[in-house]
Amino acid sequence: MIPHSRSARWRRTFRHSAVLSLVAAAAMAVVPHAASAAASTLGAAAAQSNRYFGAAVAAGRLGDAQYSGILDREFNSVTAENEMKWDSTERSRNNFTFGSADQIVNHARSHNQRVRGHTLVWHSQLPDWVKAIRDANTLRTVMNNHINGVMAHYKGQIYAWDVVNEAFADGSTQLRSSVFRDVLGTGFIEEAFRTARAADPAAKLCYNDYNVEDWNAAKTQGMYSLVRDFKARGVPIDCVGFQSHFGSGGAPGSFATTLANFAALGVDVQLTELDITGASSAAYNNVTRICMNVPRCTGITVWGIRDSDSWRSADNPLLFDRSGNKKPGYDGTLNALNAVPGGGGPVEIGVNYRLVAAHSNKSAQISNASTAPGATLVQWSANGGLNQQFDFLSSGDGYYRVRARHSGLVLQVAGTATGANITQQADTNSTAQQWRVVDQGGGAVSLVNRLSNLAMDVWEVSTADGARISQWTLTGNANQRFQLQRA
Ligand code: G3I
Repeated sequence: MIPHSRSARWRRTFRHSAVLSLVAAAAMAVVPHAASAAASTLGAAAAQSNRYFGAAVAAGRLGDAQYSGILDREFNSVTAENEMKWDSTERSRNNFTFGSADQIVNHARSHNQRVRGHTLVWHSQLPDWVKAIRDANTLRTVMNNHINGVMAHYKGQIYAWDVVNEAFADGSTQLRSSVFRDVLGTGFIEEAFRTARAADPAAKLCYNDYNVEDWNAAKTQGMYSLVRDFKARGVPIDCVGFQSHFGSGGAPGSFATTLANFAALGVDVQLTELDITGASSAAYNNVTRICMNVPRCTGITVWGIRDSDSWRSADNPLLFDRSGNKKPGYDGTLNALNAVPGGGGPVEIGVNYRLVAAHSNKSAQISNASTAPGATLVQWSANGGLNQQFDFLSSGDGYYRVRARHSGLVLQVAGTATGANITQQADTNSTAQQWRVVDQGGGAVSLVNRLSNLAMDVWEVSTADGARISQWTLTGNANQRFQLQRA
């Protein structure tokens, strides 16, 4: 009798969960990729926060199917690596040539990619006939004619122009010597920006430079004074490009400060030529998160696609190897682009949060306030208990451990199967204990486990106290969305 009724209950339970699995499978078949799920390409991931992720492109490589395949799969912005420079577009006076630049722009337009224009006024890749000019009126006419000629050709098609490139001297707050500074004086930058605004009012106008990422560098301070002065006097400038050519350590420690300070002047900031010696996952993750944490950091461009395409190929500084495979830096970048909680900065370390499920308005808690390893995660009405409070510990690469306040133990998944329990365990920082934070809008996040790639999920969308929280394929549905409420 007893065995019989137990087996009947087991059969009922089995039927019940089989039906539920079918329902879940059908739902997933109808909506294979919920709009709010983490994106799987760099461009799509950046687009979740209205940013772009771009690459420098060489016209001569577009015929390489592997190259253009990666470009069109992963990137939603392009910069011509050399083709829009003065020595390509106006090799002799007033004789404009756009063949290879047009190839890039046409490719971009037919693949819904934005175009960054690079670059109008630069001392390098500048034809000798320009360098030889000694008369200020002539050079002023020539410079403005160049800006007008190139910008008119692409009017309405360029998201942002690098109007002036690399005007500051290395290690200095002052402008470098160039034909422009030496013949026209330091006012050539202002003149170039005013001409550019009139030539294509729809394009954002950027000043672009390298070695300006460290807030404490003299060059950074010189550039800051220039932008502050332009904003104060109403000289048109919309953005500052930080080239971001980095050594193996990646961005300097003050880069976040630099971006925030420039953004506070009222300009967008962009990482325009990113590459990092060795391309470690941690370095790419860190620099991407630095951009994501500044609302006015509108996009990132890497300076090439595969290591073999790089201007500093020997450093292997890019996101794809010579065979077109994704490198670890790719994952570090993608995770950072996907991890924007609450539409703002990352979760704050050292802050206790309640995780409140969107469908039930109940808090995640450790069952019975147990302090023992193995106690399970469930939902319960908010009651102020410390077993309903969690803080985040960084594991690097955009992953966090989630620590229960009452026990000091961290949340861990039991394997990789859907439906597996989440329990508290001693902190070992194993991948089963690491979670990435996926922004679901409206202040809600989903937590996706690193080992299983499955999301924290209130079982069967239950609204009952005590319903267990396990892991399930990320759908972004309400039983996977948790408000991060400060406790
Ligand atoms: O195409 C010619 C080839 O026909 C010739 O035989 C060969 C001989 O060296 O040169 C080839 O042109 C080279 C061109 O790249 C295309 O590959 C030039 O020599 C070479 O100088 C040029 O280098 C470019 C460099 O700017 C010039 O300053 C790089 O590709 C380009 O990545 C680099 O980009 C700059 C940004 O515009 C500004 N910030 C720094 C960044 C890196 O230096």
